[in-house]
This record gives sequence, structure tokens and C-alpha cells, in this order.
Amino acid sequence: MPIQPARLLTAAGDSTLAQSGAPIPLDRLVPPAPAGAPWEVEIGFGKGRYLFERCRAEPGRRFLGIEIAGQYLREWVRRSRKVGLKNFLVLHGDALALLATSLPTGFAEVVHIYFPDPWWKTRHKKRRLLDPETVDLVLRLLAPGGKLSFATDFLEYGEKVIKILSGVPGLQIRRIAEWPEGPRTHYEAKFVTEGRPIVRLEAWFAEGAGVGLHPLGERGVVAAVRYFGREEEEHDE
Ligand SMILES: C[S@@+](CC[C@H](N)C(=O)[O-])C[C@H]1O[C@@H](n2cnc3c(N)ncnc32)[C@H](O)[C@@H]1O
Repeated sequence: MPIQPARLLTAAGDSTLAQSGAPIPLDRLVPPAPAGAPWEVEIGFGKGRYLFERCRAEPGRRFLGIEIAGQYLREWVRRSRKVGLKNFLVLHGDALALLATSLPTGFAEVVHIYFPDPWWKTRHKKRRLLDPETVDLVLRLLAPGGKLSFATDFLEYGEKVIKILSGVPGLQIRRIAEWPEGPRTHYEAKFVTEGRPIVRLEAWFAEGAGVGLHPLGERGVVAAVRYFGREEEEHDE
């Protein structure tokens, strides 16, 4: 029974988590070329300018994008398939739900979150990607030695995020005045042109800290949710 409306889109086609069964090894969705090609994740990629440029420039890395806005996402996938990109997996759905139910831990070399919606209203705060209640869902994506890369133009929210991250045991944080040369998200490019102040930071776990990956989970899976069907019922007897 489909309990997850989330869709998976790759160079090979579209499917839903429910259709795909579970668990699905990440290597099956995006074959690693070269072997062991690292993963990066971008959450809330919007029009996907940054994600597209990175995928195109670095075919030896794999990129997993999550976006809730279907129109942006469909346009991004159409364009990426048209130019023959192979190194992407895009998930259409709510990032917090996907992080909580469907994504593996410890597989991403970098997690990018740029200009996330700040959700000011008290009743909306639970939707924030980086909040005391949700920060672990994001950080657990990081592979050992991996880093979180974050930017926002909502300075107050940026300071709050720094405070939240400072409370995570073993996490190191570095503020960055300017990113090195390279692709920029749509919002970043716009705000830099306007001269708007931006809080940028990187965070990573000190050696030995962070979320460990079970050795058997080495290749990572998505949709690690089991649907209880006949087979499981038989095993329960
Ligand atoms: C302000 S835009 C920034 C887009 C892009 N990162 C940039 O810098 O140009 C925030 C994006 O996050 C997406 N978003 C917001 N909440 C989300 C969620 N829960 N799951 C996935 N995407 C989300 C929105 O649809 C939007 O595209």
C-alpha cells in the first residue's frame, strides 16, 4: 500500500518509493562511476542552479537533491536529462519526512542547505530544516569527515542556527565570509548582486564524533521502510 507520496527521479526515469519496494541501494539508483563515487546532498534546491552546475562539472560525484516544489523539480529533471546528466537522484517530497523515514545515515560527503525558508511564525517553526528538534535528521546524513554547508540572508535565523549547531556534541563550526569561486544558487547570486549580508558557515564532526554507519549499510539505501505484507506476517507466526 503506498504510504509515501515521495517520488524518485533519476536519469533512468521516475518512480515512487512505494513502487520501488524497500530498501533500494543508492548504488542501484545511481551507479557509482567511478567506483565509490561520493555523494553530496542539496536540500531545498529550488530552481537548482547550483545543483545543475555541480552535476555537470563533476560527473565523478553523485548528487541527491530534495525539493518540495514540483514545478521547479520537474523542470530541473527535464533539463538535466536533456543534457545527458547521469549522476543525480532527485527526491520530490518534504525533506523532513524523507530524512526521518527514507534516507540512509552516514553517506554524504557534503550536505548543502542554502537560503532555506525561515518559517517565522510560531506555528510554522516546526517546519524549519535546522531547529533543535530536526538538526539531528540533517547531521546524520554526513559520512565520517563530511560537512554541512549552510547559508541564509535571514541574519537572525543564521545566528540561531549557529547557536543550535554549537549545542551538538563534537560538532565544529566555521563562519565563512565568502565561498570560494564556483557555482552559486539562484538566491545567492541574486543577494550577492544586491549586496545583501549573508551568514555562511560550514560544520563538521570532530574525529570519532557524529553518527556512525553500520558496516553492512556501507552502500546506503533509500526507503528503508518495510511495508508489512504477507511475508512478514508468515514470519511472525
Ligand atoms: C528560499 S528557496 C531557496 C532555493 C535555493 N536553495 C536557492 O538558494 O536558490 C527555499 C526552497 O526550499 C524548498 N523547501 C522548503 N521547505 C522544504 C521542505 N520541507 N522540503 C523540501 N524542500 C523545501 C522550497 O520549495 C524552495 O525551493
